[in-house]
Formats: sequence, C-alpha cells, structure tokens
Amino acid sequence: MDEAYDGLITDATIKGTAVSPQAGIFALGTASHSYVEFAVRSGMEERGFVSAIASLREPRTTMGGVNLVAGFRPELWRAVAGDSSPRGVEGFNHDVVGPGDYRMPAKQNDAVLWISGSEYDVVFDVARQAIAALEPLAQVADETSSWPYHHDRDLTGFIDGSENPSLIDAPEIALIPEGSPGAGGSILLLQKWTHDAAAWESQPIPAQEKVIGRTKVDSVELQDRPKDSHAARTDQDQFGKIFRRNMPFGTVTDHGTMFVGFSSEQRRLVAMLENMAGKADGMRDRLTYFARATTGSYYFVPSLQDLRRFASAGA
Ligand code: HEM
Repeated sequence: MDEAYDGLITDATIKGTAVSPQAGIFALGTASHSYVEFAVRSGMEERGFVSAIASLREPRTTMGGVNLVAGFRPELWRAVAGDSSPRGVEGFNHDVVGPGDYRMPAKQNDAVLWISGSEYDVVFDVARQAIAALEPLAQVADETSSWPYHHDRDLTGFIDGSENPSLIDAPEIALIPEGSPGAGGSILLLQKWTHDAAAWESQPIPAQEKVIGRTKVDSVELQDRPKDSHAARTDQDQFGKIFRRNMPFGTVTDHGTMFVGFSSEQRRLVAMLENMAGKADGMRDRLTYFARATTGSYYFVPSLQDLRRFASAGA
C-alpha cells in the first residue's frame, strides 16, 4: 500500500502540466480514509449536484487539512461537462462474468468522495460535513472507512503496491495527457473486496505465495509464478500500468481490501478485471477464490480546473 510519505500534498507538488490533477490521488502516507459514494436523488439536477461537490473544495482551510478527491459516474460527468470529459469512458454498467457463473457485481453509483488525512477524527468531520452539504441533492449509497495494516500490507498479510509506479512516474500513468479531452483527469476503479479470512489463513504460506505470485515476507516475484496467480492475471507488462491506492477496510470479523486503482485509460482496468474473472480463457485469478467483490464503480476524477468551473460563486 502507500509508501512512507508524510501527509498532505498540495496542488503545486505535481509539476510539468498546465492542468492540475486532484492532488489527493498522489497523497501517499495518510493513515485514515473514508470513501463515500452517492446516488443523486430522483428529480435532482445533475449539474446542481456537480456544482455542490465542486463547491465543497474551497476554501481548503475549512476542510480541516484533509485530502479530498471527487469522482463522478462517467456518463453523469459527460452530460454536465461535455467537452471536458474523456472519450469512451463508461460506468461499471454490467457484471464482469467468468466461468461457472462467477461474477463481479456492477454497483455503479453517481459520485464518490475519497477523504483522507492523518487522523480519523478530521476525516470523519469532513465526511459528515460533505454528506450534510450534499444531502438535499444526493443520498449516501455506500460508505467505507479504511486504515493501513502493518505499514504497506493488505489483509492477506502481503505487501500491496510493490509493482506500483513511483510518485515520479505515477502522474503520467494515472492522468489523461494534455491535449486530450479530460486532460489532468483520471479514471478510477473503486471496488470493495471482502476476504474469506478463514479460507485464506487455512493455506500454508507457500500456497498463499502461489496465489499472489510473490513471497509473503518481502514481496519478491516468484521465479515459477503460476499462470493463475494474481500478479500474473494482472500483469502490467501485458495490460499497461495503473496506479493503485488500495487500503484495508472493515472490522476484525468482516474485512477486506478496498481496491482503488487509477489509470489514464479505462481499458487497462477493464482488461485486468476481465482477466481476473477468466472471461476470455476460463482461467480465474486464484485470489478470487479467497476474496469476493461486493461493489464496483468507475468514476471520472476531473482535473482541479475542470471541477472548479462548476464551483458556485463565493464557494
Ligand atoms: C482482494 C483484492 C486484491 C488484493 C488483496 C490484491 C493484492 C495484491 C498484491 C498483494 C499484489 C502483489 C504486490 C504488488 O505488486 O502490489 C498485487 C498486485 C497487483 N494487483 Fe492486486 N489485489 C487485489 C485486487 C486487484 C484488482 C481488482 C486489480 C485490477 C483491477 C489489481 C491489480 C493489480 C496489479 C496491476 C498488480 C501488479 C501486477 C504486476 O504487474 O506485477 N488487484 N495485488
């Protein structure tokens, strides 16, 4: 998961582009996270909803020093923002299906706020303020709180993020390039996975390592990595690179991984999911026998400039 990096990142940290991404995407090292997904109330205008979310961001000081990342159902953003939306990006509108009626459910919502900070109290306060501000327009459809586990491990006990790009390379991988519609924005796949801890922990460590495709203690890639291991089924040399900000979530008895993956191209994420499900070749990722996807949404996370165009005057 997140490498050691102390706290907040500011807009100015991401250099080399005229457009600024929402900086929280790259703000590694924050210990507390909240993901709040919203459904627009029926009869409410999508433009008013986007404007309400855009207005949450300012002024930064009222947000209590937390990172706030806002994403929208791609079709909703396109309807409101037109030219500033990337071409061909779609919501998670259909289950991803594999052999034996294996399914990753489509649970697309209208928007997500990902709030992160060093302590849960500020994250909690800001999330509640945001929900209250949006309440007339949208209701909470899903909510998840996350926290790091032994620095950078997920709740399988493995290091998660070893093959992640460095912060130097991540913007190029995660952000739509300048000159393209939606420049400075990113496509986010947010997918909650509940672990079957009992089944997982009944496996000896060498068997777990074959499932992931890496060693448990220090995350070294296995020489003879099985073809159905997780790392093989999501191999970035095959599908293209993505930037992951996965976090553990849940309680002692009911927990898992919040998959949080960013890419400049949706097809990389789609192809990885389909390959995990064994859609084309019938070979399911071994990890999917120990973890079950319970949600799945794609969101477009626009650049700060594109989002701010919708902020109400005086916000
Ligand atoms: C229960 C859910 C998941 C868990 C616990 C999990 C855990 C892991 C672990 C431990 C690794 C190896 C270390 C690393 O390189 O980070 C890994 C690699 C990776 N995972 Fe996942 N993952 C999950 C879901 C997903 C999903 C849904 C995707 C894509 C849509 C994905 C994409 C990747 C990628 C791209 C890699 C690196 C592959 C490579 O190029 O070597 N993971 N994951």
